Amino acid sequence: MSKRNFVILSVVVIASLFIASSIYAGAECPDMIKMDNPAYSEHTMGIVMFSHKRHFEGYKLPCGECHHDDSGQPRTDLKVGDEVDGGCIDCHGNPSRKPKGAKLSKSEMLEYHAEALHMNCKECHRKEKKAGKNAPTFCDECHPKK
Ligand code: HEC
Ligand code: HEC
Ligand code: HEC
Ligand code: HEC
Repeated sequence: MSKRNFVILSVVVIASLFIASSIYAGAECPDMIKMDNPAYSEHTMGIVMFSHKRHFEGYKLPCGECHHDDSGQPRTDLKVGDEVDGGCIDCHGNPSRKPKGAKLSKSEMLEYHAEALHMNCKECHRKEKKAGKNAPTFCDECHPKK
């Protein structure tokens, strides 16, 4: 390797180390998330594997589609490496679906973790499906059979 190429290579290596450390200095932004929140005493359904990175990178969805602040306002400022305002369970704190047959307002529904998740995931998927995309809306497309 010529001296000049070696210098260029060194600069590239140092720059990429710098970029990597600046990413990892923030909160970890997982590629794949196993949705088995430990607050549930039991998962009655198969565990959903959520392709987090594919959603914001592949499907190009802004972070604020799913992450919001403590008043429910979308975090439009977020980027990879930033901290979020907590896990969904921190604010949608009841680890279950709503009681069968219960008539609840939207904000009462949102107290139930599984309802908040379903609302977030499925409302978008229904829209995407109408637009011809292959976004899952049936139980066993997200929850693998146990
Ligand atoms: C778009 C994906 C998706 C679809 C479709 C979906 N779910 Fe879920 N569901 C989730 C996620 C994500 C959670 C949260 C699990 C966690 O974080 O622990 C969840 C949680 C649950 C829970 C509470 C946890 C458990 O296993 O007991 C139940 C019950 C549930 N879903 C039932 C259903 C049923 C019934 C259907 C079909 C009518 C359905 N889900 C469709 C994504 C989905
Ligand atoms: C399609 C929805 C969606 C999009 C888009 C999305 N996320 Fe997430 N993200 C989630 C869900 C769901 C979780 C799991 C939260 C939980 O289990 O409580 C999560 C988890 C995280 C975590 C880990 C939190 C923890 O407590 O460990 C970070 C950090 C994060 N997301 C950052 C981002 C950033 C930054 C972006 C944009 C570049 C982004 N997310 C885009 C849905 C999304
Ligand atoms: C820091 C607290 C906090 C966290 C963390 C949080 N939420 Fe929320 N969320 C709220 C508040 C507050 C609202 C507004 C409630 C209302 O309208 O009654 C809301 C509203 C929602 C709504 C309704 C949006 C609409 O259509 O109006 C959904 C769906 C939702 N959250 C899902 C999630 C999911 C999924 C996560 C995790 C990725 C999450 N939330 C994390 C506080 C939080
Ligand atoms: C704002 C829109 C949006 C939200 C919110 C969203 N998704 Fe998706 N999802 C998509 C799109 C778009 C696709 C891809 C459709 C296609 O194939 O082009 C997809 C595909 C998927 C797929 C199948 C392919 C893959 O990447 O695994 C799963 C499973 C999935 N989503 C789970 C979830 C879960 C679980 C949540 C909630 C935590 C969620 N999604 C929230 C837009 C969304």
